Amino acid sequence: MTTSRISGFYNLNLDERRKKIAESSSLLDLSTLDSALTTGLSLETALHMVENVIGLYALPLGIGLNFQINGRDVLVPMVIEEPSVVAGASFMAKLARAKGGFIAESTEPLMIGQLQVLEVDNLYEAKQKILDNKQELIEYINTFPSSIKKRGGGIRDIEVRVFDDLIIRGFLVVHLIYDVRDAMGANAINTACEQLSPKIEALTGGKVHLKILSNLSDRRIVKSKCVIPVKELAFDSFSGEEVRDGIIAAYAFAAVDPYRATTHNKGVMNGVDAVVIATGNDWRAIEAGAHAYAARSGKYTSLSTWSKDNEGNLVGELEMPMAVGIVGGATKVHPAAQMAIQLMDVKSANELAEIIVSVGLAQNMAALRALATEGIQRGHMSLHARQIAISAGASGDLIEKVASQMVLEKNIRSERAEEILKNLESGK
Ligand code: MEV
Repeated sequence: MTTSRISGFYNLNLDERRKKIAESSSLLDLSTLDSALTTGLSLETALHMVENVIGLYALPLGIGLNFQINGRDVLVPMVIEEPSVVAGASFMAKLARAKGGFIAESTEPLMIGQLQVLEVDNLYEAKQKILDNKQELIEYINTFPSSIKKRGGGIRDIEVRVFDDLIIRGFLVVHLIYDVRDAMGANAINTACEQLSPKIEALTGGKVHLKILSNLSDRRIVKSKCVIPVKELAFDSFSGEEVRDGIIAAYAFAAVDPYRATTHNKGVMNGVDAVVIATGNDWRAIEAGAHAYAARSGKYTSLSTWSKDNEGNLVGELEMPMAVGIVGGATKVHPAAQMAIQLMDVKSANELAEIIVSVGLAQNMAALRALATEGIQRGHMSLHARQIAISAGASGDLIEKVASQMVLEKNIRSERAEEILKNLESGK
């Protein structure tokens, strides 16, 4: 069984950290971990992934610790360039353990494909014709061979929408509701839309224009919840009640104001995207879907909610679309993404999606806790100082020495880092 609680991880060196992760994981050995993270994506593979490739671009991969999701410990790989995100999420996951960690659930992995049908004479008659032939259309599409269908997926439903109050001639939009199982599903849906198109044209007498998936995956929803006992929230001079009420007041701000909600949701996405990227999934799709979902009421608002229960515990909930896969695409070809899936021991796309949304919730709580108490900059300080030290030329032990000196002086600037480095190197 994997354990996600590894005390003192932060103080270990790189080799010791990898060893600890391999020991703590029930599935991954050190050599797999080493080769995925050292060799990573080969140039040869990259050359076949996108166009005009001239090299690779690396980002840090950290491990989100302490996560317990649906009763299971999970070591969470997070790829991100921003300091404090991995530490923040790990710390909140630790607080959440007191009440069993995160409880997450997801809908069936249903994606939507859209066909825009132009030049239809009578939109309402055409809509009815499609609906009358729905079963036949579903059966027709499901006869085409595809790996998703082999895994039990396929078209589940067809819906038709009419847009007739427009400045141009009205049109129909046909939705294919596609159960994509463990795939993200974009290719399968786009193919199915193209396959269905001649049938729709024949039925409606119209012309199918766009055929493409929708990134508003609002049939593929994940909810995650955590309950934090108020005493867990106390730190420094802040009482647990103060922190809890501060987080709830911060949430109230995001709930009513789109300017704040955007930043609040960006904090959620700090956690979400880090895992989405680590697993080779399409983070632009996730971002687009998340923000559209946040505006589903007609007003952009917070994706998460924070409240207190009858016992005074802090309760956080996050609900959002999560169109990720564990088969195909970059997930299949990137060795680090493969390692990430293995490390988390996820057996289905839904399980991965539940982890991702739980990390988003943890990260949201980390940001709100900091903002509601000491402010966001303090936590950033030491990692920011290390980055400045590295950019000033420090390496090895000198990074920590230069960084700590700048934090102590509350003077984190490149010029100061260069001076401190010079002094340390000349033995002053
Ligand atoms: C920074 O990357 C994210 C935050 O701005 C999120 C928030 O304000 O809630 C700290």
